[in-house]
Amino acid sequence: MKVMIVGGGGREHAIAWAVAKSPRLEKLYAAPGNAGIAEIAECADISVMDKEALVAFAKEKAVDFVIVGPDDPLAAGVADAFLDAGIKTFGPRKNAAIIEASKAFSKDLMKKYGIPCAASETFSDPEEAAAYLKTLSAPYVLKADGLALGKGVLICQTLDEAMAGIQEIMVDKKFGSAGDQLVIEEFMTGREVSVLCFSDGKTILPMTSAQDHKRAKDNDEGLNTGGMGTFSPSPFYTPEIDQFCRENIYQKTIDAMRAEGREFKGVLFCGLMLTKDGPRVLEFNARFGDPEAQVVIPRLENDILDVMEACADGRLDEIELRFADNAAVCVMLASDGYPLSYEKGLPISGLEKFKGDSSHFVFHSGTKLKDGAVVTNGGRVLGVTAIGSDLKSARASAYEATGWIDFANKYMRNDIGKAIDEA
Ligand code: AMP
Ligand code: GLY
Repeated sequence: MKVMIVGGGGREHAIAWAVAKSPRLEKLYAAPGNAGIAEIAECADISVMDKEALVAFAKEKAVDFVIVGPDDPLAAGVADAFLDAGIKTFGPRKNAAIIEASKAFSKDLMKKYGIPCAASETFSDPEEAAAYLKTLSAPYVLKADGLALGKGVLICQTLDEAMAGIQEIMVDKKFGSAGDQLVIEEFMTGREVSVLCFSDGKTILPMTSAQDHKRAKDNDEGLNTGGMGTFSPSPFYTPEIDQFCRENIYQKTIDAMRAEGREFKGVLFCGLMLTKDGPRVLEFNARFGDPEAQVVIPRLENDILDVMEACADGRLDEIELRFADNAAVCVMLASDGYPLSYEKGLPISGLEKFKGDSSHFVFHSGTKLKDGAVVTNGGRVLGVTAIGSDLKSARASAYEATGWIDFANKYMRNDIGKAIDEA
């Protein structure tokens, strides 16, 4: 099978790594890929948003199966472009990717179908939003409706701060048209867990759980980022909670999307808050999480191509998902200054130490090849993942392996997996 992956981050590297293990793979392509993906795939320098060029490349190479990784192209209909060209594709169509691309849509869906989530109201008029805010008490949760690189959620401790947030999002349009609508939501407390689920539109199969660390600094301080590290499984996601979520969240959501004429095929990422009143949905994403993918995929025992193809074909009921009875921890190595400003183009050393190691992996997030050498090319640079028999040994092993890598301005959180000690 000839396979093409759209994307060039750590998630796509983890997917590429799993696809490359499949005995069914004949040839792997990626667009645009990165320096890590280039070791296992032929990379084409095509933007993830350039539908015509992506489809033309896939046709030229006679690609049999396309995997679309990131949110932006899914929201823009890149999966539709491949499907409409007759190419089998993993990833939801635009009309289903809206579950991530519009928070107003996903809140309406959850309310209509009784899927547990925080109480909320949606506004398109800043004055009405401000008037509503005054009836609430702190902390205030404001969410820009559209995609905003994971930065469109504000948790405000004072009314003044929340009013300024309305101004920034709805009036100053800090996130562009993503701020045309604003969701104001009840503040919830509890443990957060990410559960990524494969779906073919009818059947939904949850993967093993994971926990992300979204803030830039230790002790969950600093700005929100795309994710600074993950561990899997979450010790707080018990079998009872899993059972509740299967019945009340995962299956209900897939059925709701089908009932709305928005069949969801691909990965439905359920961001959950485990509140004292039970699990509640924080957000849905229409793709693998990153860096969640970097701890979940290495634990998957199935041939990932079998599972993804079954999603595309509507045969997921034939698949039994299997995950190894172990644990994984990923620590992101970032460029100091991320998520604001940071240098690029700095040489990276130590990558060769991971070669042939079956319990340590380095997935490239923001790298590229320059004159044959691997250099930094993003805020999040590399994800260092270790597999261990349990979470504590995986964590120690991941932190040890972060020391194998060096580049100027290397920055990481030192408390990834701290919650493990509280389990
Ligand atoms: P989201 O992109 O919706 O997952 O929001 C980003 C982060 O904001 C989440 O991971 C939570 O930590 C926090 N958050 C979002 N919604 C709420 C809420 N209703 N109550 C408390 N925290 C929230
Ligand atoms: N790690 C969170 C996300 O991928 O959205």
